[in-house]
Amino acid sequence: MCGIVGYLGERPILPLLIKGLHRLEYRGYDSAGVAIVPQAGGDIKGLQLFKKKGKVADLVAEIGSAEPQGRAGIGHTRWATHGAPNDVNAHPHLSGNGRLALIHNGIIENFHPLKESLAQRGHTFESETDTEVLVHLIEEILAIEGCDLFTAVRNALAEVVGAYAIAVIDTQDPDVIVVGRKSSPLVLGIGDGEYFVASDATPIVEYTKNVVYLEDEEIARISLQDGLKIRTIGNHTVTPVVEALEMEMEAIEKGGYEHFMLKEIHEQPRSIADCLRGRVRLDHGVVRMAGIDDHCEMWTAASRVIVVGCGTSWHAGLVAEYLFEDFARIPVEVEYASEFRYRNPVINKGDIVIAISQSGETADTLAAIRMARERGAHIFGVCNVVGSSIAREADSGAYTHAGPEIGVASTKAFTAQVAVLALVALRVGELRGKIDGATFGRMLVELQSVPEKLESILAQEQTIVEIAKAYAHAPNALFLGRGYNFPVALEGALKLKEISYIHAEGYPAAEMKHGPIALIDEDMPIFFVATQDAHYEKVVSNMQEVKARGGRIIAVVTRGDTHAAALSEHIIEVPKTADALVPLLSTVPFQLLSYHIAVLLKRDVDQPRNLAKSVTVE
Ligand code: F6R
Repeated sequence: MCGIVGYLGERPILPLLIKGLHRLEYRGYDSAGVAIVPQAGGDIKGLQLFKKKGKVADLVAEIGSAEPQGRAGIGHTRWATHGAPNDVNAHPHLSGNGRLALIHNGIIENFHPLKESLAQRGHTFESETDTEVLVHLIEEILAIEGCDLFTAVRNALAEVVGAYAIAVIDTQDPDVIVVGRKSSPLVLGIGDGEYFVASDATPIVEYTKNVVYLEDEEIARISLQDGLKIRTIGNHTVTPVVEALEMEMEAIEKGGYEHFMLKEIHEQPRSIADCLRGRVRLDHGVVRMAGIDDHCEMWTAASRVIVVGCGTSWHAGLVAEYLFEDFARIPVEVEYASEFRYRNPVINKGDIVIAISQSGETADTLAAIRMARERGAHIFGVCNVVGSSIAREADSGAYTHAGPEIGVASTKAFTAQVAVLALVALRVGELRGKIDGATFGRMLVELQSVPEKLESILAQEQTIVEIAKAYAHAPNALFLGRGYNFPVALEGALKLKEISYIHAEGYPAAEMKHGPIALIDEDMPIFFVATQDAHYEKVVSNMQEVKARGGRIIAVVTRGDTHAAALSEHIIEVPKTADALVPLLSTVPFQLLSYHIAVLLKRDVDQPRNLAKSVTVE
């Protein structure tokens, strides 16, 4: 969702902010803007502000040949919440007197009463946004005799209910940026005589690897003269902790691929290998995971696992349900975080909540873990983004190590989540004495062979391109699978709909008879996952039912299969593996298929309409 970038230093500021905005585009947005403070004593008076509906390229066109100057500037990509995506609602927003400019991610929940009371005191507003209310509130507090910007921001945020990451610049303090956060991430980059501010590290990594992750309810004043000072909203001094950024530039570049999504699909052999590295010791037949090993007793005694997540991460949670039941024999519930957080769930001592999130910032998942922790659960995070909010708030956890995922549609993060969850289920099964040594050892061998098997699936891309051509213009599609492949069917449908805008549904194959079968005709592609596993014969029966009704079957089958293949117009083969690991393979053909259909339909693959990479509002 919205993206924040800020810079304080001597570099040419506009190109730096624009580049930062481009780096943030993947988060999803519908307008963009920048504001730069002119230098004291110079010819330029007042904030240099540019904002535009549309893409960063539209903003660049709007700026044209203007050459704003200054050492402090902020930029923003906005994903509309309060008010339509248009030029006026785009950030930055200015104070009534034009002295301050502010950018904001998140939602100010009490903006109505704040706005009303400000209006009663004479403030007028140009936009429909909650953000403009905040900058007016800061302006009003700043007008109090002796108040500085740092204090004004702190006092204003103390009145705010909601989630925010903000950055403010002040024409009367041209070498300063003040930032603050609560439930929305903010990273500060510390360079040599320069500072960077961003929602995530992608705009920063090019310039410095020294970063400070601002914590919840912290406010920072960054000054070229005085350096970095952090205080809490409660006015306690915080000593900044500088951390080394674990990110390489190549991870956020397309590296010769046409889209990030395609690059990330092809990265999966490596991302799975990275995820297993150091955790699976084939020679010793062991799984080592600090997040589990440090809490052996808790896992041994656990009475239930509740998995929470959203979207693709929720699908990984569904795979986890099968894994935990098979290997660890623990009762599992898988919950949409958005529903779970507003229910009144019964959480008992001994319950472990696994929160799955690529970004580690999803608002609903974050709220769900906070609620579960308050009720006494231990929170185990499965996140991709290192240092993200969920990763930091979890009691223990395991990173997926998939590397930055820039394409909005989640691909390598999903398979890495499934790989981590398989390791967790195996390790916990071992601790609880629920898995025999032979099965355990065989699973480790199978896991280690996944990267190589993925390569052989990726090598079939041309076959998948041909299938994509045959079905790109279908208005609807159905994805069916059973057992471990039921979540794969859901994930296949989600991938197709989110990037191609084709209506697609995923179902357990046997459920077809209870409704979706009515949709089947000769125009309807039905994508089956019919790998040779425990459900193979049953799935083949379901395929026959579709075939009998004239449905067009495309099937993901095990290499060498003839039975399911004979019922299909097209097949994509995946190598044989253990049933529990099939999702790691069978998902990939659907990722490639969705990608190529979206390309054929000329969709914006990496930034599909209306979607955001990191859903930081509920
Ligand atoms: C789909 C997709 C989304 C995310 C969901 C949760 O391709 O990416 O459905 O999976 O928004 O995001 P995270 O995993 O960051 O919590």
